[in-house]
This record gives sequence, C-alpha cells and structure tokens, in this order.
Amino acid sequence: MQEKIIILDFGSQTTQLIARRVRELNIYCEIIPYNKFPFGDEEGIIGVILSGSPLSVYDKDAFRVDITRLAAAYPLLGICYGAQLMAYTLGGNVEPAPTREYGRACLAEVDSDDLLFKGIDAGAQVWMSHGDTITALPDDFKVLASTPEVRFAAFRSTTRRMWGVQFHPEVFHSTCGMDLLRNFAVSICGAHCTWSAESFIDSTVDELRRQLGNDKVVLGLSGGVDSSVAAVLLNRAIGSRLTCIFVDHGMLRKDEFTSVLRDYECLGLNVVGVDASARFFKDLEGVTDPEKKRKIIGADFIKVFDEEAHKIEDVRWLAQGTIYPDCIESLSITGTVIKSHHNVGGLPEKMNLRLCEPLRLLFKDEVRAVGRALGMPEHLISRHPFPGPGLAVRILGDITPEKVRILQEADHIFIQGLRDSGLYDKVWQAGVILLPVQSVGVMGDERTYERAVALRAVTSTDAMTADWAHLPYEFLAGVSNEIIRKVRGVNRVCYDISSKPPATIEWE
Ligand code: XMP
Repeated sequence: MQEKIIILDFGSQTTQLIARRVRELNIYCEIIPYNKFPFGDEEGIIGVILSGSPLSVYDKDAFRVDITRLAAAYPLLGICYGAQLMAYTLGGNVEPAPTREYGRACLAEVDSDDLLFKGIDAGAQVWMSHGDTITALPDDFKVLASTPEVRFAAFRSTTRRMWGVQFHPEVFHSTCGMDLLRNFAVSICGAHCTWSAESFIDSTVDELRRQLGNDKVVLGLSGGVDSSVAAVLLNRAIGSRLTCIFVDHGMLRKDEFTSVLRDYECLGLNVVGVDASARFFKDLEGVTDPEKKRKIIGADFIKVFDEEAHKIEDVRWLAQGTIYPDCIESLSITGTVIKSHHNVGGLPEKMNLRLCEPLRLLFKDEVRAVGRALGMPEHLISRHPFPGPGLAVRILGDITPEKVRILQEADHIFIQGLRDSGLYDKVWQAGVILLPVQSVGVMGDERTYERAVALRAVTSTDAMTADWAHLPYEFLAGVSNEIIRKVRGVNRVCYDISSKPPATIEWE
C-alpha cells in the first residue's frame, strides 16, 4: 500500500510547493481541497499538512475543517493559516496584526528537544508572510519557537499530535524548512522515504495492468515530454495493446515529424504517424487571429485523431499525458475554481472513451525522472516545451507553407546553435518568431526588401513567469549572421528582451 501525506489546500499560493518539498524527501503526497478530505477511504495516509490561505480564520466565510476529528486520526502540521486555524478552533485567539509581516525572520528560543525541531537551533532563518497573528494559544498548547516579532512562531499541543508553524517551511528562504518537514514526515508520521521514480514505475505499471486488463488503449503523441513518457509507461504495462497516434499538422519544427517518429519506433512503441499537414494548411488559409488559429488546429486535430483511432478495433481507453499542475484543483476566495487543462480538450467526450492519465499525480521534473528511469533518450526527456499549435502561433498573420519553411529554417539554426554552444539546457524555452514586417537591406550590391524574425529565449521554472535569457552577444551575433546568410527571405534578426509579465512567452 502506498503511504502518503495529505496536504489540505486552503488556497495558498505555496501549496504546490509544500507538495514538491515533501516529494523531494521521497515521500508521496497529494494535495486535496480543504473540504474533500477522504474520510472513510483513508488507505495509506500517515499524516496531514494544513496549508496557508489568503483568508482570515475569523472571517465568516473562512475555510474550515474538523480539526478534532483529523487530529484524532493523524499527526497534523498547520502552516500559517493552517496553524492559525488550529489555534483559533481549539480555543486560542487570532487577530489582525498591526502590520503585515512579510520576509525573512530569525527563530529564537527554539525548543530543540521537540521532535519537530530536532537539529534546528535558534538563529535559523524562516520566511514569514501573514497579516494575522495568534495572540493566545489554546490551553493544551505550548510554544516551540518565537521570533522577535512573533511570539507564537511555532507551537504544539501537549495532549494531541498537532503542530503549528506561523512561517512557511516550504519556501526556499526558510533555511531550516526541509529539516522541519522531514522531522514532521519521518520522525512524527513515520514515513519510510521509499517513493522514487522506480517505485512509481513499478506501482503504476501494476495498477495500469489491473485497470486496463486486456483492453486496447489509444494515445496521442505530440513529441513533448509528457505524452512520450506516458506512452512508454503504458507500453511497459500493456505492450502492443497501446496504439500511439502522432499527427503532423505541418507546423512542427524542421524534420521533427520524421526524427521523433524514429525515436518512438526505437522505443518499441506501436505508433502510427499521420501526415495531415495539407488539411491543416487548407483550413488555416487566410486566418490571422491567434485564437481562431488555435481553434482550427484543435478541431482538426480531434477530427484526424478520431478518424485514425476508429481504424483500430475495439478501443476502450484514451490515454493522455496530463500532469499534476494541469489538474490540481485550486481555490479562490470567491469559490472553488477547478483548473483543468487538457491539450486535446473535448476528445474523450467525443470519442466516448474512458480516460487514462498515468502521470496525473506527477510534477514536470518528476515526469522527466520517470522518463530517465524508463531508459528514454535524454534529448526526448529534456526537450523544451513547444506549444500544441506549433509554429502557427509563431507566424504572426496568415500562414502559408512558404512562411513555415522560412521559420523552420531560422528556428533550426537558432536551436542547433543553442545545442552546439551548450546553452540549450540553460534556457526554459526558445524559438523564432516570423514577423509580418519587411525591411530594406543590402546584400552584395543588391538592395533587398525581406522579412524580419525575432529570436525568443526565456528562463523560467514553470512558464507562469519568465525572464528573457541573457544569451551572450557573440552567440546572438553568430546566430543572426547564419540566419541572414542561409535563410532565403530573411534580412533582419531581432532579439526579444521582454519578460513575462507583462509580455508572454509566445507572441500570439
Ligand atoms: P505564454 O505565451 O502564455 O505561454 O507565456 C506559456 C507556455 O504555454 C505554451 N503555450 C501553449 N501550449 N497550446 C499549448 O499546448 C497553446 O495554445 C499554447 N500557447 C502557449 C508556451 O509555449 C509556453 O510554454
């Protein structure tokens, strides 16, 4: 049975980070909305962490849980709002602080004899971010640590297995954060720290075999990391009962369709490559609006995929490479918002198939670790993200095969240059944008009037925010020269130095 820690989400921006940290300790954990605790179906749960929240515990509509019931069954660790909720519900007091406390603080008067603070001494740095403060603890609670500003920075119940910390151990700036989370998970909850890419593969393969039996499964490959790892994992579980479909919509990178198809075949996947580019080009003719382009490509993709899938007899399941950040239910003060992003949205309903998402509980870097453990080649694992509609959203204005050719050539030079210079893995994502701009140039004795392209390279950790990559001038000069020299139709190269926000990574 999979042992796990449950993180009850009260809507904090750092809830996912708590999960990341726990998993870095090789302990499996899941995030669950605060009001969805699986009472009655509690297999494997060894402890519960209550997250922070943008709310105040004394608000009329504050998110609440039955702390007493939870504490009777599991060790609890409350973080920020979670800690305040514990204190408030059990008879303590929480009030607005005179000023919001935000930033680094140093722990003083630490009770290092307590299991939670084993190995953590006074002076340890923690990160605070709270507008409310606990002014009185419940009767059976005692203080474990203070800071100059916060008297009850950490505390515990003396009668029940309950701990609370006002600071955020999950954020990087809390230097004792990992020790504290380890103390909670291992010393208090008794975690064995056996969760790893290998153990995930073993248990998932077993589970897929049980779930799918002798059923046939179809999966859409995009060339990206997530769908590729999902395919290899399923292939290990059910072999040729999995059929993968890789659609060429004509907007892929130069030679990508053939090279990725070859990679998939080398991995032993049962894969059907479909060149549907003519159909996509026809439907995109004259379309300039980015959202329309996306809709047309999405709809055509579903049609092509559906046609191909119908050629396979008796398919029961549609597999997708959905990952954890795509499906975590996140909360907002105005109610529950479910963020659910599927690249091929609408497919399962249309095809009347059951959905199989073997990576739905993994973060991106965990997916990569699973891919490596499955023996997949590094160039497939460490690929940059690439948008589903591909180069269609990097050609500003209407799309023609000639424009795609120009962009593919320029993009190839840029990406190959990044690889050759050892810069590819230093950036999150890179590509070239074909601008709807022509400008005057001179080549030899000739006046030219040709296109401009923009190079885009960003650093990021999650694509939510990004900075333009500070690539060396010499490198940019080399790429610019090579593009203008080799790509017919381009006589000017610019470098995009906008960050996100306020810009976005893609131009469309
Ligand atoms: P933006 O441009 O919003 O992009 O900063 C954030 C990330 O999402 C990718 N992206 C897409 N991926 N379909 C996708 O599958 C799309 O329509 C799409 N648009 C943007 C983008 O490449 C970046 O990684």
